Amino acid sequence: MARQTVKALLNSTEKDIEVSISAWVRTKRGSKNVAFIAVNDGSTPHNLQIVVDLEKMGEAVVDKVTTGSCIKAIGKLVESQGSGQKYELEASSIEVLGEADANEYPLQPKKHSLEFLRENAHLRFRTSTFSAVSRIRHTLIFAVHNFFNSRGFYNIHTPIITGSDAEGAGETFNVSTLDKKNPPLTEEGEIDYKKDFFGKLTNLTVSGQLEAEAAAMALGKVYTFGPTFRAENSNTTRHLAEFWMIEPEVAFNELEDNIDLAEDFMKYLIAYTLENCHDDLVYLENRIIEEEKNKKAEDRQPMNLIEKLKFVVDNDFERLTYTEAIEILRNSKPNKKKKFQYPVEGFGTDLQSEHERYLVEKHFKKPVVLTDYPKEIKAFYMRQNEDGKTVRAMDILFPGIGEMVGGSQREERLDLLVKRMEEMHIEADELWWYLELRKFGTAPHSGFGLGFERLVQFVTGMGNIRDVIPFPRTPKSAEF
Ligand code: 4AD
Ligand code: MG
Repeated sequence: MARQTVKALLNSTEKDIEVSISAWVRTKRGSKNVAFIAVNDGSTPHNLQIVVDLEKMGEAVVDKVTTGSCIKAIGKLVESQGSGQKYELEASSIEVLGEADANEYPLQPKKHSLEFLRENAHLRFRTSTFSAVSRIRHTLIFAVHNFFNSRGFYNIHTPIITGSDAEGAGETFNVSTLDKKNPPLTEEGEIDYKKDFFGKLTNLTVSGQLEAEAAAMALGKVYTFGPTFRAENSNTTRHLAEFWMIEPEVAFNELEDNIDLAEDFMKYLIAYTLENCHDDLVYLENRIIEEEKNKKAEDRQPMNLIEKLKFVVDNDFERLTYTEAIEILRNSKPNKKKKFQYPVEGFGTDLQSEHERYLVEKHFKKPVVLTDYPKEIKAFYMRQNEDGKTVRAMDILFPGIGEMVGGSQREERLDLLVKRMEEMHIEADELWWYLELRKFGTAPHSGFGLGFERLVQFVTGMGNIRDVIPFPRTPKSAEF
């Protein structure tokens, strides 16, 4: 008999049929005569109830069926008497595939804190919350490729090990093959990286953008979707040391086209999830509603999860310049104390997350696109404006998240790029190939980077970025 999934059985159009299921036990309860076993196989947030007639089958059959064990059940799919599910399985045979000692199994049939589950990252796939997040994460990955493929973009794999620090922020993880305890030294007594595998010190990539630009200067429309690594010591609910980024890069696009692309892309991804992950979203929404009950009324989210996602799909993002945003912030009274922790002095102030959140959550109450930042607070590759002060940058800020997207029109003029690199003390020798893209057949082009985990966080409503990636890498934690 073919093995079926819990999802297929719960949505079955036939009943009173013989079926087989293999799944993990969430709970077991019952009396002397009957046992009810709730199982899940990761196909849906709902469990399937298996009913075992102990009088007929003998009590011993469920002895080793405990929370966490894995079983195979064969039986008849019948309409459920109780409320909740449409169907249940009347077992005719139960086989324990893998036992789990109830005294040792870390997941009890009760609600565990997300912190506890993080420490048991190898088992948290077995919870309804994390499996719902995992399925939504998968759906979003699929939607990313769908979107770009349908628009004629090519997916480019950019290197993981690289010699450049694309963002110039110096937050790289070094990669070296030299003997750490006894490295070869130069005559000056410094570590001799010429003897390293690549003949120089390399690092894990912080962004695939520069290589994507090279591809866009021939293929026109490209995107990357890969892991990126940042050694920033940020212990926040929005930062990971290893995260996945999607970076489209488009020849001939100017900043406005870039913003249009980003807005269309994000709306598509969210709409796709609403269409394809309804059960999981309802499950996560109910989870949040329960959590919110413990909060004061003024701290509660203004919208439920699904309503919030639909709102983003149906409404235009707000677009304004950095300078306009600074004016709004200077004239704002953000809280009872009427000031921000970090004062907004005027042009040149780098926006802190409290400022970004004020703009999206209190002032505009929707996603906000900020453009034309001061060049001093942005990367070397952004196209300089005529005013000599600002660059064609764009950041997209989301309620509850802050910065979700960072992008720009790129500086395609060789002389201006070289001058900017000099000002920022970036060695032209290190990026000779990047400069050649401007020397030979340069063209206007733009792109952006979307932090995939921040998107998954927004779509699932999870408060901590560590709960939307299977094995989070953060400062002082790489257990798994
Ligand atoms: O703003 P960032 O640093 O931009 C770039 O890397 C550009 N090269 C992108 C481009 O134009 N192609 O990073 C882009 C996005 C951020 O907006 C944020 O969503 C996410 O990546 N991000 C992080 N996500 C999780 N943990 C971190 N430590 C992150 N740092 C950035
Ligand atoms: Mg950024």
